[in-house]
Amino acid sequence: QKNGYDTFMQKEMHEQPYVIRETLRGRIEDSIVMPELDGIDLRDYDHVYLIACGTAYHASLYAQYLGREWMDMPITCVPASEFRYGNYPVNAKTLAIFVSQSGETADTLAALKMCLRKGATTLAISNVLDSSLARLADITMYTCAGPEIAVASTKAYTTQLVLLAAMMVKLAQNAGAQVRDVETFIHDLKEIPNVVEAMLEQENVMERYARLLQDQRDAYFIGRQLDYVSVLEGALKLKEISYVHADAYYAGELKHGPIALIDEGTVVIALATQKEVAPKTISNIEETIARGAKVILIKAPGIHSDKIERQIEIPAIHPYLAGIPATILLQLFAFYTAKEKGCNVDQPRNLAKSVTVE
Ligand code: M6R
Repeated sequence: QKNGYDTFMQKEMHEQPYVIRETLRGRIEDSIVMPELDGIDLRDYDHVYLIACGTAYHASLYAQYLGREWMDMPITCVPASEFRYGNYPVNAKTLAIFVSQSGETADTLAALKMCLRKGATTLAISNVLDSSLARLADITMYTCAGPEIAVASTKAYTTQLVLLAAMMVKLAQNAGAQVRDVETFIHDLKEIPNVVEAMLEQENVMERYARLLQDQRDAYFIGRQLDYVSVLEGALKLKEISYVHADAYYAGELKHGPIALIDEGTVVIALATQKEVAPKTISNIEETIARGAKVILIKAPGIHSDKIERQIEIPAIHPYLAGIPATILLQLFAFYTAKEKGCNVDQPRNLAKSVTVE
């Protein structure tokens, strides 16, 4: 069942090249093929929401970012547990997109039902065939991650990212927007399975870096722009399986408070894959080093600092896709930290695979 791996999480991490390919199969040719979305033009809606929980919420933040970059219209991303009780306008001119691996998460499902009652158009992205979410939504699209057994989501997340990436291109084009570098983006999206494969080969490096947390109770993740989405997910992964307290911050927010926590030996995991803001992030990292932090930097080619001892590079790829290889490294980092601490990687305490209570 575990295909020779000790844990489901490790097996599922290694399945990512395959399931990403499966999720993209038939959906990207020279352009994006998503007939379900053919009639959807965001200009027809007054409000567009992305609604989800946990890791699926992070995937939704990614889609929100792409939407903001490519289209001149606001897309609001809200955790389902907040959306339900907040006074968000929902009516017949609302498009609500729900993202959920299981399709059974109580808050996500309740938010969908509320949107249906108020006459919104609903779109569900689910990994489980015929899930409640999939059955209820007006339009359903599936990720093809296959069964995810480990509580910590890995392959479901990366398949959500690639599906959402393709979907946002399609929605932008439907709305008449010019997607900058669209050919490169689509080309690199097709390459993602190979890029992920290459990252999984860095397992030993991340295993070694994970030892830094052996005697630590805290870890701080920092990044800017799209890197911030990846550090949110990296921190969630680390805390849920290793019980190390992990916080993610916008790198630029460090000096507004969090830097007070940085001390001799504090572990900081930094992402710098976005060229325009990378020099700023590097300077934030150097400020933490000056206070004694031990830094691990995940970076894109061409970004450099002599002051950072531990650096790992992702392959050259469109910057809007760089979060995917970075995420693979962060998954490995969380996995090996948890293993090192003797935690039950597949079934962490207090957590259920599917949160069907509110
Ligand atoms: O099944 P869903 O995608 O709706 O689940 C949402 C979250 O409960 C889930 O992503 C959770 O955060 C994971 N354990 C994270 O690894």
